[in-house]
Amino acid sequence: MGIHLTKAVIPAAGLGTRFLPATKAMPKEMLPVVDKPAIQYVVEEAVDAGLSDVLVVTGRNKTAIDNHFDRVYELESTLEQKGKGDMLRVVNESTALADMHYVRQGDPLGLGHAVLRAKMHVGHEPFAVLLGDDIIDARDPLLQRMLDVQGQRNATVIALMEVDPSQTHLYGVASVEATDDDDVVKVTGLVEKPDPGKSPSNLAIIGRYVLRPEVFDVLENTPPGKGGEIQLTDALLTLAEDDEIAGGVYGVVFRGRRYDTGDKLDYIKAIVQLACDRKDLGPDLRPWLKEFVGGL
Ligand code: G1P
Repeated sequence: MGIHLTKAVIPAAGLGTRFLPATKAMPKEMLPVVDKPAIQYVVEEAVDAGLSDVLVVTGRNKTAIDNHFDRVYELESTLEQKGKGDMLRVVNESTALADMHYVRQGDPLGLGHAVLRAKMHVGHEPFAVLLGDDIIDARDPLLQRMLDVQGQRNATVIALMEVDPSQTHLYGVASVEATDDDDVVKVTGLVEKPDPGKSPSNLAIIGRYVLRPEVFDVLENTPPGKGGEIQLTDALLTLAEDDEIAGGVYGVVFRGRRYDTGDKLDYIKAIVQLACDRKDLGPDLRPWLKEFVGGL
């Protein structure tokens, strides 16, 4: 087994243009999914997998994110005075969740560049990267499995999921070979957002990575790729092509529930799905939805 990992990195410097005007003055990571900001789900997922040291790579819009994970004394004392213990607990949950750190990306030069900003904080240990657009259902643990595979193989591990072939142009896509483990594949090639019809497979990278620190050196030498941005996928391809650098790249194939909050339609679907599952909302929402859909 490898060393016990503690660090997670969450890139959160995107402009969120797909959600304007909601994201004009607020980071998209703060958009509520039911009643919790999207980023809180992701931080909770990291903490559930034992990664309580969380570095958020932010942009100019950072204030709301770090306020969310900090104390808010006026609100706490008001809730306390009014005897609203349940609400107080909800407020304190996000404060006590993790050991939060922040670094700014500065120039928005791509996901690979955002990850490179974590170099000083991460140091020489393997670490996880979690993208906020993907929410993984807490009942279908993925990150823990990835950490186990990382420990066993001492390699880079990415999360892959089968997507409809019409969707591959939205993702990094992998060429793979089987391994002895049913849910683990060896990654032999990667393409960032292949043109329609040019995808090597329908196994897409979903936003979870367990990386070795060697990735930083590779990223420093990775030229801009798709969209003129420094792509994490391109650095991972370098690692996949040469096992000598950091033990190669493996993919854990995820077959559980994933909610995409990256665009408007998927965001709405995620909210409906998660709300239907909630004890406090589901019993009223489900019959209403049926009736509403019946009337469409
Ligand atoms: C990023 C990555 C891509 C990956 C995707 C997962 O793209 O570059 O390889 O498949 O996240 O959500 P983005 O969605 O940020 O454009």
